[in-house]
Amino acid sequence: MEGPVELVTDDGTVVVSDRFLVAVCTCRRSKLFPLCDTSHRKRIRKSSNQD
Ligand code: FES
Repeated sequence: MEGPVELVTDDGTVVVSDRFLVAVCTCRRSKLFPLCDTSHRKRIRKSSNQD
């Protein structure tokens, strides 16, 4: 996704980011949740497609 983006979470929190590149956190480990801060890298392993 390219920024700026505006996200509304399930609890109604609106998150706006003007970062050039924005990823939505799907692991829920991010301190910036719902935006990915790459915390997912600490424990999640994928058998392929690693960055
Ligand atoms: S997907 Fe959760 S920190 Fe990246």
